Amino acid sequence: MRALVNGIQLGYEILGKNGLPLVLIHGFGLNRTIWKDMVNHFMEDQLVILPDLRGHGESDAPDGIYPMSLLAKDILGLLDELEIKKAVLCGHSMGGYVTLAFTENHPGRLAGIGLITSRAETDSPDKKRDRYAFAENVAQNGSVVLAESLAPQISNRKRVIETTYKLIEKTSPKGIIGASKGMAERQSRLHVLDSFKKPALIVAGQEDQIIPSSDARNMAGRLEKAVYLSIPHACHMPMMETPGVLAKALLNLSERAAASLA
Ligand code: MLT
Repeated sequence: MRALVNGIQLGYEILGKNGLPLVLIHGFGLNRTIWKDMVNHFMEDQLVILPDLRGHGESDAPDGIYPMSLLAKDILGLLDELEIKKAVLCGHSMGGYVTLAFTENHPGRLAGIGLITSRAETDSPDKKRDRYAFAENVAQNGSVVLAESLAPQISNRKRVIETTYKLIEKTSPKGIIGASKGMAERQSRLHVLDSFKKPALIVAGQEDQIIPSSDARNMAGRLEKAVYLSIPHACHMPMMETPGVLAKALLNLSERAAASLA
């Protein structure tokens, strides 16, 4: 399905029927399909919304920088379109940066949040520069540049590396460039964690080579109602690597969020 949101068509799908709407937001260069096996096998009754971020999957990929606050506004527009007043938002990696921007700007629409192999801090000056240089490289050489650099680090499982490589290769270069520059420009959102009083879930992969689990522990320590889950044998993609474990934690978050509204 696609919805017209902030002047672009946003791809999404809805699975399951029960519970508070759980919105699962994919990471950089990927798309909503990363969640599907986990949802279909381990949480089939739960009402789940899977959006494609702008520039990714079946969503339009306009020119320009995609600030995390704009990606969050797209999710807000989708919730409005679906007439969803309160949701639990969970983001994977860059999807977590979007979740934090949403939490900062539209907290009243949230019943809970989940941050999966993600972080709240800003980039170092070197990392910011790298992201701009990388965007230039993608402009010259296409999305394969991200597939070649990200997929091999994303997991230690061949199947996950191969699947994500193919997803990233198909992602629009404009989407990768817009998101890369948007991530470079993002500010620290550690303060957002300090003031969020609703149920939260923080998930780390113990073998994640992209985001160290110390970042996750730090985030959990700042949240009033966080469950912290550090998954053994998971890298950056627990929804594909350890789907049963992650699904159980997400269902628990959904129940805690519903109880806190009751
Ligand atoms: C992601 O997986 O979304 C990215 O690696 C996050 C990042 O580049 O900071």
